[in-house]
Amino acid sequence: MTKEQPAWYESQTVKDMMALMGGKALRGVMSNYFSSRIYKGKVGLLQVSNYLKAMFEKEDRRALIICDSFTQKYAKKVTEYLDLIEMEYKIWPGAEPEVPIPTIAVGAQVCEEFKPQVIIALGGGSVMDTAKMVMIKYEEPTKNIFNILPYFGSIGLRRKFRFFIAIPTTSGTGSEVSSAAVLTDMDRNPPKKLEVMSDEFPADITILDTDFVKDMPPKLTAGTGLDALSHAMGSYVSNWGSPYIDSVNITAMKEIVKFLPRAYKYGAKDIEARDHMHMAALMAGIGFGNTIPGIDHALGHSAGKIFRFHHGIAVGLFLPYSVEFQAKVTDRWQDLCPIFNISVENKPRKELLKEFIEKLKEFIHSIDLPTSFRELRKPDITKQDYMSKLDLLVSYAEDDAVSLTSYRPINTELFKKIFEYAWEGKAIDF
Ligand SMILES: [Fe+2]
Repeated sequence: MTKEQPAWYESQTVKDMMALMGGKALRGVMSNYFSSRIYKGKVGLLQVSNYLKAMFEKEDRRALIICDSFTQKYAKKVTEYLDLIEMEYKIWPGAEPEVPIPTIAVGAQVCEEFKPQVIIALGGGSVMDTAKMVMIKYEEPTKNIFNILPYFGSIGLRRKFRFFIAIPTTSGTGSEVSSAAVLTDMDRNPPKKLEVMSDEFPADITILDTDFVKDMPPKLTAGTGLDALSHAMGSYVSNWGSPYIDSVNITAMKEIVKFLPRAYKYGAKDIEARDHMHMAALMAGIGFGNTIPGIDHALGHSAGKIFRFHHGIAVGLFLPYSVEFQAKVTDRWQDLCPIFNISVENKPRKELLKEFIEKLKEFIHSIDLPTSFRELRKPDITKQDYMSKLDLLVSYAEDDAVSLTSYRPINTELFKKIFEYAWEGKAIDF
C-alpha cells in the first residue's frame, strides 16, 4: 500500500463539488433505508441458531466469531448455541481498537483458511467495523478500500459467506445497522481515521441481548451512550431527515436522555435502563446510518485520534458546538426542546437556543463527561499543546467524509474557530 493514500472524499474536486451543491444536495436523490433483522431479548441467540440450523446442511455449518481480546470472554455464550446445532466454529480475537488497517488482512487470511458461511461480530464498534472490512478483503482482495464510493460502488459481499451476524457488546456505535466502518490509517503521522461506506455493511441479523452489555464499566457506558446521542442529534439537525428517520432519531434521543444517566449510575443493577439503552443505540444507528452524522463526528474523529481518547467522549464533547453551528441555518433543534423539558413558548429564538445548549451541556456533565477541552482530564491536554495542534486538528476534520455533507457549508476558517471555542467551552456566535 502506498504511503498516505488519500481516500476519495479527501479529493479537492469532490470537496469543491459538494461545496457548490451544498450538503443537502444528495438528499432526496438517495433516500435509501437500510437496517438489519433484529432479535432482541434472552431468546435471540436460540432463535437465530435455530434459523441457521434450518438454513445450512450440516457440512456447511461453519461460523467465524470475530472479537477482540476483551470480548472474547463472551464467546462461550455464543458457542453454546452453535454446539446445539452442530455448527463448527472458530474464534478469531484479532480485532483491535480503532481498526488499524494491517489487522484486516490477518482476518481475511483466517476466513480464507476456515471458509466460514457465517461471520459473527461479537464486540463494540471496532470489532464490527473490523468484521466489515475483513468481509471486503476476503471477498474482494484487490479492492482499493480508499476508493469505495457509497451509493455507486457495489462490492458484491456475501458470495463466499452467507450471513453477517452482529452481537453488540456496547450500547452506542450502532455499527450493527450502519453502512459505515471507521478504520485507522497507520501510514499517516499521526494516524488518521478513515471511513468506508457501503450499503452492504449492515448486519443481516443483529442480536440485542443485555447479557452482553450489563457489565460495561461506567465510563464506557457514558462514552458509548453519548456517541449514540450524537448519532441521533447530529443526524436530526443535519436536515437530511425523513418522517421515518426523524421518528427513529427522536425516540432514540428521548430514550437516551431518560435512561443513560440510570445506566451510568446503576450499571448491571438496572437492567431496564440497559435494555432501553441497547435499543436506543441501535435506533440512533439506523438514524445516522440512513442519513449522515453531524459535524461533531468530523471534529471528534480528528481530536480523538490526535489526542487519543474515546470516540464517544470526543464526539460528545463537540455535540453542543455542532448543533449550535447548524442552528444558524436550521430550526430543527427546536423540535428537541421538549426532550430536555424546555418550554418553547414566548421565548426569543436566541434565548431558546442558549437554553437548549445549556441543557445539553448539563446532560453531558451529568454523566461526568466534558464539554470543553479545558475540562477534559484523560488525557490532560495543556492549552499550549492544544493550540499548537490547531492546524492539524483542522486538516483532519476538513478531510473527514462527514464534513462533505454539513448542512451549513463549512471551511478551514470555520473549523478553526470551532476548535478554538471548544477549548474554553465558548458558545458559537458566528
Ligand atoms: Fe459515532
